[in-house]
Amino acid sequence: MASTSEHWNNIYQDTEECRLGWYEDHPSTTLELLNQIPGWENTTIFLPGAGTSLLVDYLLDAGARLVLNDLSSVALRLLKERLGDRGVRAEWICQNIAYPLGASVAEVDIWIDRAVLHFLTDEHDIGGCFRNIRTKLKVGGHALFAEFLPNGVSRCADLELHGYSLEELLERLGEDFEPVDHFEHTYIGPDGESRPYIYSLFKRVA
Ligand SMILES: C[S@@+](CC[C@H](N)C(=O)[O-])C[C@H]1O[C@@H](n2cnc3c(N)ncnc32)[C@H](O)[C@@H]1O
Repeated sequence: MASTSEHWNNIYQDTEECRLGWYEDHPSTTLELLNQIPGWENTTIFLPGAGTSLLVDYLLDAGARLVLNDLSSVALRLLKERLGDRGVRAEWICQNIAYPLGASVAEVDIWIDRAVLHFLTDEHDIGGCFRNIRTKLKVGGHALFAEFLPNGVSRCADLELHGYSLEELLERLGEDFEPVDHFEHTYIGPDGESRPYIYSLFKRVA
């Protein structure tokens, strides 16, 4: 199975939102890190692979400006339908985050990747995603990741995974970034299965 737009479209078409293996009814774990960034409510935040996450509603309601990306047009359509008028304030980008973002996408203050990066298994794709972060994240901005740990879960959404340690995230971000905080979190899915994640926050210092 490959992580194509068709694969993800089928998942979003066929699965009730609260049955998705990454569903959260409140983004409290992400907020533990986000709340360490003073004034995040008045920033522009990029969400790769936003899916239909309720984090989007929370961020918009708090006042943040959002750039919403996903490979799946179905996920973005469902999210747009749910947001209604609130969605007008967001910029929408349907593309593979491994490919370069266009010049029209402005620099952002915060990049939040929850459970997206770990689906990139090809070295070229992983490199492309990190290049987008370095191109679009302002100096002084923050990158927040919630990814599977190495040797944690072997598959999700019927796909192979590339798990991350703090050290690997830092190495791939490069020397312009420094770690702010991180912790491990066990996510309990809709079927009661437990999945170990690493949540981590980095600041771009140069
Ligand atoms: C596990 S879901 C997480 C969704 C959301 N971030 C959340 O926390 O609820 C992974 C999401 O990433 C999207 N995705 C997977 N690979 C992608 C890629 N290469 N570029 C952009 N989006 C991708 C999928 O369509 C899906 O919406």
